[in-house]
Amino acid sequence: MNMHTADAVTVEEGLAIQERQSRLDSEAATAIAMQNTLLTPRFYTTDFDVLDAIDVTPVRGDWDSLIAEMKADPNKGHFRKTADWDHVDWDGMEPALKKEFVDFLISSCTAEFSGCVLYKEMKRRGHNKDVAELFQLMARDEARHAGFINDALREAGIAVNLGFLTQKKKYTYFRPKFIYYATYLSEKIGYARYITIFRHLEKHPERRFHPIFKWFEEWCSDEFRHGEAFALLMKTDPALTRGVNVWWIKFFLTAVFATMHVRDHQRPVFHAALGVDTDWYGQEVFRKTSELSKQIFPITLDIDHPRWQKGLRQLQKASSEADTARRRGGYAGALAGAFAALRATLGFAMLYTIPAKRHTVPASTRLEPVY
Ligand SMILES: [Fe+2]
Ligand SMILES: [Fe+2]
Repeated sequence: MNMHTADAVTVEEGLAIQERQSRLDSEAATAIAMQNTLLTPRFYTTDFDVLDAIDVTPVRGDWDSLIAEMKADPNKGHFRKTADWDHVDWDGMEPALKKEFVDFLISSCTAEFSGCVLYKEMKRRGHNKDVAELFQLMARDEARHAGFINDALREAGIAVNLGFLTQKKKYTYFRPKFIYYATYLSEKIGYARYITIFRHLEKHPERRFHPIFKWFEEWCSDEFRHGEAFALLMKTDPALTRGVNVWWIKFFLTAVFATMHVRDHQRPVFHAALGVDTDWYGQEVFRKTSELSKQIFPITLDIDHPRWQKGLRQLQKASSEADTARRRGGYAGALAGAFAALRATLGFAMLYTIPAKRHTVPASTRLEPVY
């Protein structure tokens, strides 16, 4: 039996290791991970029978090579602390930075684990060999990712109780096609986020205030492959990226980008410590994600449109007003909350109505991580 999540070859093994560690896990961190707001990572469920019915025959060649790559398991053993893991002075860390960084780790851990739970459930319910195999491999990776972040948190005396989350966190139902759009995008934007931070810190190693960033390069290759898998799944049914569904694609692109913008702006000290301008980082990540998503989506958002930054700022303002309203509570708080929600809706509409850029989608979706 492996003792560390990095060596776990199945999702079940990875989770069993984490289960044994969960005695140490902290209530406060788990409480944060339990939160369900528009902005926090959620757990999803879907109609698994529809996913199980996918026939990958139209993309068989690309499918087999992707699965072979994942089965070869290039990152086995990677997600563990090695000699490269520098000592972290948690006690000496500036309190504001510590707070935002811990929040970043908890929310990343929850997001990784959200993927793990969804993929594992699909694997458990699937009878279709291709689909079950893919989801087993992706769940394996996400369990390692979540386990590794928890290792980092544990050094600070906190950790997320993943077993508790699985049982108690609320699950949001998404139709299968929404799962494809949302999960595809979260994998690709995950890749873009990790690689952008990694490349930035390669140039500015003095800004690397925590060793976990050294692991981001191999890490993002996993996310890249997961995104490739969803692109192939969507490619099996051309209707998913045509007609009215293009409006849904635009909706998910806008929602995913806007959520990232608002969330990142909630962590100014964290980004300042990395030496990253949050607006620059956002645009950079949106640009990479847009470029990648051309492999399957017939549109990309016009993120250079004059209304783009305006809409993002409006959403950010609405989000901080909503926070203030929640803290105030009572009648005045409820009223302020309603205004914030209205402002957020208008902000979203401002972004959603920017004309999208159209382009032709290539015959084969397969891409390599080049950033
Ligand atoms: Fe992951
Ligand atoms: Fe992933």
